[in-house]
Amino acid sequence: MTATSFDKKRIKILLLEGVHPCAVEALKADGYGNITELKHALQGDELARAIADVHMLGIRSRTQLTAEVLDKANRLMAVGCFCIGTNQVDLDAALTAGVPVFNAPYSNTRSVAELVLAEAILLMRGVPEKTSLMHEGVWQKSAADAFEVRGKTLGVIGYGNIGSQLGVLAEGLGMNVIFHDVVRKLNLGNARQIDDLDELLQSADVVSMHVPATDATANLMNGARLARMKDRAVLINASRGNVVDIPALAARLRDGHLLGAAIDVFPHEPRSNNEPFVSELKGLRNVILTPHIGGSTQEAQENIGREVAEKLVRYSDNGSTRTAVNFPEVALPAHPGQHRLLHIHRNTPGILSAINQALSDANVNVSGQYLQTRGDVGYVVIDIEADYSRDVRAALAAVPGTIRTRVLY
Ligand code: NAI
Repeated sequence: MTATSFDKKRIKILLLEGVHPCAVEALKADGYGNITELKHALQGDELARAIADVHMLGIRSRTQLTAEVLDKANRLMAVGCFCIGTNQVDLDAALTAGVPVFNAPYSNTRSVAELVLAEAILLMRGVPEKTSLMHEGVWQKSAADAFEVRGKTLGVIGYGNIGSQLGVLAEGLGMNVIFHDVVRKLNLGNARQIDDLDELLQSADVVSMHVPATDATANLMNGARLARMKDRAVLINASRGNVVDIPALAARLRDGHLLGAAIDVFPHEPRSNNEPFVSELKGLRNVILTPHIGGSTQEAQENIGREVAEKLVRYSDNGSTRTAVNFPEVALPAHPGQHRLLHIHRNTPGILSAINQALSDANVNVSGQYLQTRGDVGYVVIDIEADYSRDVRAALAAVPGTIRTRVLY
């Protein structure tokens, strides 16, 4: 991390929802010791009161950070979502308030890939059905419909972080890997890209979905595509719930066209552990059902804790907003021996020249300037020689359209 000499103890940090301890370690290791930790989520007025004088806030998925709450968080500099999704935060309101929001989108890639690989093996051996029969006292020793995965073809739909890692692991088991993606991808190992999705479906013994939820992927595996899959193939979906037509899948499992399926994500998922799970797939013995736990491992939680804490530290130390989900992204070099002015402002014509005029009036020597805009908000970072009039910050704050300013040194 960049060496800085401002008093980090003054940066007040609140971590809610039992964020992993490694996040606290990472923050403390960088000098950010003013941390309050709560095990639970806060909502509404209670949340607004708790964050009124907080500089950095860490949440997971249950804290609803609404525009009303953000409006009362006068000192808030940044939010870390210690999870994958960020729809619990009003991202536009955060942007307008000059608050970047960070998350950890890829920390659980390996966890998903491992689960999918295990499921491919179990399904190809008919284990879900056999284990459920044994729980009912039925001993059915047979090699019928039981196959090794070695030499079989894995068809990955969506060759991104998870799909490509799964491909590498599957090749380690001796599988042939083909993949379909909407963009041209550099293949890892011997994996082969197939432009025609139907061709992949007709060739793969195991089809695994790893696409995002978009208009184009909604019901991507519809009845017609399921019918094009090889006879006695298996389908795995640990991506998003609406990419597979579940009633159509249930029909293809019942009529024996497919050997089995493993489904981790559903069109309608219970919002809490207290709600019942409803699905046409319930009761089908050749289906592995899991409650959206593809990425839920201790290792992933730890990775998330470390990754988001590091992003908060990098922003606070250095001003870098790289990978922020809602904010102009600026990746910045270290600024040894210099002061760095951060200026977040309404993206209106003339504001940059007003900022530069203020710097020029103060006779400040600028050694670097970085600007990015996103929607209505602009973010400019200015590196200056340490020897300057401290009035310059007030001059910058007085520029019409300024949302917030900070000085790093
Ligand atoms: P990624 O963004 O790295 O990869 C997605 C890939 O899908 C990209 O290569 C993209 O070009 C491709 N793609 C997009 N539209 C497509 C289409 N119509 N047809 C074919 N390919 C298409 O995403 P990542 O990290 O690999 O995640 C994949 C999915 O897994 C996401 O939906 C994510 O939300 C989900 N996920 C599920 C978890 C779980 O707990 N079950 C945990 C983590 C991720």
